[in-house]
Amino acid sequence: MTFASDSRLPWWRNAVCYQIYVRSFADGDGDGIGDIAGITSRLDYLEGLNVDALWLTPFYRSPQADHGYDVADYRDVDPLFGTLADFDEMLAGAHDRGLKVIVDLVPNHTSAEHAWFQEALAAGRGSRARDRYKFSDGRGPDGSEPPNNWQSIFGGSAWTRVDDGQWYLHLFDSSQPDLNWDDPEVGDEFESILRFWLDRGVDGFRVDVAHGLFKASGLPDVAGFGPGGETLDATMSQWDRPYWDQPGVHDVYRRWRKVLDSYPGDRMMIGEAWVGSPESMARYVRPDEMHQVFNFHWLSTPFSAPALRQVIDETYAAVGPVGASPTWVLSNHDVVRTVTHYGGGDLGLSRAKASMLTMLALPGSAYVYQGEELGLPQVDVAPEDRQDPTWLRGGGVGRDGCRVPLPWSGSEPPFGFSPGGPGEVRTWLPQPEWFREYTVEHQSRDPYSTLGFLRYAVARRRGLVGGLSGSIEMLERRDDVVAFRRAGVDGAPGLICVVNCGTTDHVVDDLGAPVVLSAALAEGTGQLLPNSAAWFLA
Ligand code: GLC
Repeated sequence: MTFASDSRLPWWRNAVCYQIYVRSFADGDGDGIGDIAGITSRLDYLEGLNVDALWLTPFYRSPQADHGYDVADYRDVDPLFGTLADFDEMLAGAHDRGLKVIVDLVPNHTSAEHAWFQEALAAGRGSRARDRYKFSDGRGPDGSEPPNNWQSIFGGSAWTRVDDGQWYLHLFDSSQPDLNWDDPEVGDEFESILRFWLDRGVDGFRVDVAHGLFKASGLPDVAGFGPGGETLDATMSQWDRPYWDQPGVHDVYRRWRKVLDSYPGDRMMIGEAWVGSPESMARYVRPDEMHQVFNFHWLSTPFSAPALRQVIDETYAAVGPVGASPTWVLSNHDVVRTVTHYGGGDLGLSRAKASMLTMLALPGSAYVYQGEELGLPQVDVAPEDRQDPTWLRGGGVGRDGCRVPLPWSGSEPPFGFSPGGPGEVRTWLPQPEWFREYTVEHQSRDPYSTLGFLRYAVARRRGLVGGLSGSIEMLERRDDVVAFRRAGVDGAPGLICVVNCGTTDHVVDDLGAPVVLSAALAEGTGQLLPNSAAWFLA
């Protein structure tokens, strides 16, 4: 019996990619903040998860106003996280273990401490240096009102005034000035940055705010906002704005694609593109643009059969027409952790595990956020400990609760996250006492833990994926149950995944041999419990 070999497809089409939020993964030097050496020291753990790739959030030189998404130097590692030599060592260690490494690229904005922005401030109005950013004169007789009514995603106006009276645009924090992508020098600089990291050997890029970059010419007001940015028309789509998804972005990704293709190996890029429709999303993954975009549909849906069916249908509607491979995301460093999103406690955990199993059964790539493998719930970070600029600017509940340093071992903070014993190190966000139930050490002893479950499921997926078709067939089941089948290719068995989103058991003994269970099948009865999923070879 011959199975279609995985090696026929580029690695990223079927990858399980593990997202490392560098500040919170592992701390090598004992300052309470995660770093590159910490990652290197945990490469065996990552290999043991059976994932294919790692995505590292920004570790470049940065004042850390948005924890690295404010980059001051794109070609260096922030001393907080180590050195370029540490990066090279980590990359080599990952590659030795067969792990690909994707780094984060932040092209929409720089840090206010970037040399270009400092030059722009010093050079004054009308200067060449100001052209690289979005400087503009204000409105009103003395220019004391912002140039338009745009609002920062993190809350407040998207404009800040500088000493000589001009304003600069920042769609995020005021320490993150937006670049002017109409200036050719910006494009040239980013091509050079791409080459810098490709030359070092990275396997790809996650492109931050890929739907940003260009702004509609004339910087028109957002229709539906009042002059002070207040929402007048709540029905208006939040994506239909003059600063998102402008046509110019596609030429940038075409240019980058040519650069990636000129390097040996399957180098890839995946975009964080929040856009309003499947058609818009498809434009980012045309064959000469990005390889993938994150599919965020799942993040905001409840655990229900109609919602899951809709996620799957819309995903295929988006990527199908252009032949791109789908991606699946249950959480990341910007959203509430899955267990909590699904109701918390045992219920939330069962649903999170069921969703994980579903995601791993679907064709395409699955992106797993650190801590998901431990079933970590959201942490309720005390107001005085909050650090996220969205919280500090009043723009939302804040994202700190999903960014608390991981618990590795022991029974007290820092739970092995940092070297040193209890009380010796203060982690940058405090870890709650209840983390002791979730440590890697604790869960590694138990094959039925969330960690044991994920390791097993990802390993089984790895064994199966090369023999599975890239398309799915939805199966008729009860309304509150979602089931789909991927046919086997070249004589390999197919895989059926069944998810019970209902409130009563569902009979599944007609389906075949179960392969992976999330504590899901009531023993000996052939019944799939509510809030769980299972795989069957069929
Ligand atoms: C992206 C990142 C987020 C960051 C923002 C600004 O959405 O995921 O963490 O704050 O971009 O760079």
